Amino acid sequence: MRIDVLTIFPDYLAPLGLSLAGKARDKGLIDVRVHDLRDWTHDRHRTVDDTPYGGGAGMVMKPEPWGEALDAVLGDEPRDRVTVVVPTPSGQPFTQAVARELATRERLVFACGRYEGIDQRVLDEVADRAELREISLGDYVLNGGEVAALAVTEAVVRLVPGFMGNAESLVEESHEDGLLEYPVYTKPPTWRGRDVPPVLLSGDHAAIAAWRREQAERRTAERRPDLLPPSTLLEGVELRAAEPADAAELYVLQLACWVQEMHANPGVRIPALHESLDDLRSWLTRDTVVVARSAGRLVGGVRASLDGDAWEVGRLMVAPDLAGRGLGRTLLTRIEELVPPEATTYALFTGAGSSRNQRMYKKAGYRLRGEVEPGTVRMTKPVRR
Ligand SMILES: C[S@@+](CC[C@H](N)C(=O)[O-])C[C@H]1O[C@@H](n2cnc3c(N)ncnc32)[C@H](O)[C@@H]1O
Repeated sequence: MRIDVLTIFPDYLAPLGLSLAGKARDKGLIDVRVHDLRDWTHDRHRTVDDTPYGGGAGMVMKPEPWGEALDAVLGDEPRDRVTVVVPTPSGQPFTQAVARELATRERLVFACGRYEGIDQRVLDEVADRAELREISLGDYVLNGGEVAALAVTEAVVRLVPGFMGNAESLVEESHEDGLLEYPVYTKPPTWRGRDVPPVLLSGDHAAIAAWRREQAERRTAERRPDLLPPSTLLEGVELRAAEPADAAELYVLQLACWVQEMHANPGVRIPALHESLDDLRSWLTRDTVVVARSAGRLVGGVRASLDGDAWEVGRLMVAPDLAGRGLGRTLLTRIEELVPPEATTYALFTGAGSSRNQRMYKKAGYRLRGEVEPGTVRMTKPVRR
């Protein structure tokens, strides 16, 4: 694979000569060429930036040096033989799946922006001449594309056949099977009073595989519930950790759902109906909250928080038009999966008159623990690990 990097800071890419990437270079698996964009400037100051049309802060990278640099680096390579990667915070998020895709390409060219980015016409021209991939390293802003070029190169190069000694270690990694990796241990078996989990010393390969799978699922559910596969009960519904931007839609859905509850429990004061948007915003950031979306629309939600040894589940809501299709149960299962290790009980409150909700909770293993205040019952079930 040939990799070209265009940058105004060629020294930034020096780490590509180190470690495994350096070895891959030595073995001839990758051919890395770093170019100084300023070599394609023609003025005394080697200028690569200018003020933005339309005004505003910062500078924009001029099209001329980029045009000449790309002419030199792309030559008359056919369109399908080269992929130009432009790191930008407004690009497609970089994932293992994208790395796998890029690892199949013959040529990658990284165009590292600085300042406020590159004149859009350069990107439009690149899209005519090559496969253009605008890629973001994450939802934060770096000073330039070099760190992203390094990160993408490292993730891609280790997937190039012949690069890693042990291909199996690639398969077992985080993100390869859609899950985060299980915890790993090495010798000695006891270190500072901390033991390696006994199953790993058992020699029972099936038990070890089952333990690792269970740990990977648990870790993913706790840290990245958004990675878990969406519910199979409802095609097209995606469950993920709530974000602050979900607040307004969640507020509207909550009001809609609890109005029904109000009718099922006449005279009972329902906190969800007395909450302001700011109240909801504050528990959204404080509690563990999972939301369900279908075709961009927020159709469900649930929250939980730890109170003593109880994982207090609440605000389980499903859009009225999707009720009765298993989404409530799926949300309940998902929030239960996120139970912290300290909790020994799942607990919730529901209306004494909400017979449909109570039936669903009973089916999920909850038992009635009696009326806690007029019109409200408590239900619990033990946490089994
Ligand atoms: C200061 S940033 C420009 C940010 C730009 N004004 C914006 O808001 O999208 C300068 C350069 O850093 C790189 N960069 C910054 N954040 C990045 C990210 N999250 N992922 C990839 N590249 C990034 C891009 O190459 C970008 O052109």
